[in-house]
Amino acid sequence: MTQNRPHFATRLGVIATTVGSAVGLGNIWRFPYEAGTHGGGAFLIIYIACIAVIGIPVICAEFVMGRASRRNIFGAFRTLAPRGGRWWQSVGVLGILGSVLILSFYSVVAGWTIEYLLQSLAGTLDAVASSERQIAFDRFTGGWRCVLWTVVILGLNCAIVLGGVRKGIERVSNLLMPLLFILLVTLAVNSLLLPGAASGLEFLFRPDFSTVDSSVILGALGQAFFSLSLGLGTMMIYASYFSPATPLLKSAATTAGLDTLVALIAGVIIFPAVFTFGAEPAAGPKLVFEVLPDIFYRMPGGAVWSTLFFLLLLLASLTSTISMSEISVAYLSEQWGMSRRKAVALNSGIVLVLGTLCALSFGPLSDFTVCGKTIFELFDYVASNIIMPLGGMLISVFVGWVLKRQTFDLELKPAPRMLLNALVFSLRFIAPGAIALIFIVYI
Ligand code: PFF
Repeated sequence: MTQNRPHFATRLGVIATTVGSAVGLGNIWRFPYEAGTHGGGAFLIIYIACIAVIGIPVICAEFVMGRASRRNIFGAFRTLAPRGGRWWQSVGVLGILGSVLILSFYSVVAGWTIEYLLQSLAGTLDAVASSERQIAFDRFTGGWRCVLWTVVILGLNCAIVLGGVRKGIERVSNLLMPLLFILLVTLAVNSLLLPGAASGLEFLFRPDFSTVDSSVILGALGQAFFSLSLGLGTMMIYASYFSPATPLLKSAATTAGLDTLVALIAGVIIFPAVFTFGAEPAAGPKLVFEVLPDIFYRMPGGAVWSTLFFLLLLLASLTSTISMSEISVAYLSEQWGMSRRKAVALNSGIVLVLGTLCALSFGPLSDFTVCGKTIFELFDYVASNIIMPLGGMLISVFVGWVLKRQTFDLELKPAPRMLLNALVFSLRFIAPGAIALIFIVYI
């Protein structure tokens, strides 16, 4: 089976798919509102520290496991652990559970982008006065159309995943990622010219550590894992499709670098506008959807910008949803011998039910809460702040302590020795230690 495994065809394909998984709603929707609710500058610094010290070593660990085993997360632990790694395979259970929870709420937000895209096209987004945007947003997310768009997203996701690795995943990512990047830079320049630019940049870049508490640190850690798609085996499954010639360290650094850059650019787009149009930085998940229309419709040709933006955001979310689905689809087809078609159908069926519950948690189910969180918030919290860091911690421990050092060095070749030692040091002590400490302090 491993010999026939598909490969990504080109080096651009490798970068476009891994960056395609990493860059998505996490950067453009989640990062600004997490930074907004957690105080701005200080959150940003802790977030970047998490990416550098924990994120990059964990991406390398997932890449090494994926390419060395050429398997999905279960198969990777089974192949690489001594005596079949029975216990280690439970990390796979976490990965699948996390990816299903994320896909469920993520599809809802991706569905919002369809609504905003259609409204941009129809010119109705422009017709809503700034002061009424919040009411319009609440009305839409509280209704059934929001459920319909969630279903449409899952349908599109199925279609691409069924297309397979090269024709589906790689081709779509190659085209979209560069386009999205160009559009984001243009929007950032536009925001820098707004009257509230200085206050917005100050909020984002000037740290005030007096506001930092454990929830800020856990939030930054969760955001780093969410944004880099780590701890669930996503980067592992993608690396299992890399060719032996793909340089892992370079690919890891490029993925983390571009992902962080896109989050920063999203911050530079959003916060000047937040301060210019008097929005509330701590507005939560609705922040970006309320502020963006104000940005677009102050620009000449606003409807065109808005249409292009929501189209690309929609497509960027699809390059992330396909990577989430690939975790379970590869597992079901490789470990259970299911056809790709059946595996996609099973995964989508489960996500459809959970996704509908998430969508309804803004309307009919808004009063149904567990530990004070709606279903949508609960799925996000459990997956991003608990399952992903926990999965990342276990993957670090496995690669740092259990995997043969020779395998690690061989896969990361031709990295300098000092760098390899630093990575192993982080995987053995720093990454698991820091994650454990944050969990202990927080709980
Ligand atoms: N990294 C993606 C984003 O920032 O939008 C989200 C994501 C993708 C999370 C894939 C988890 C995952 F497995």
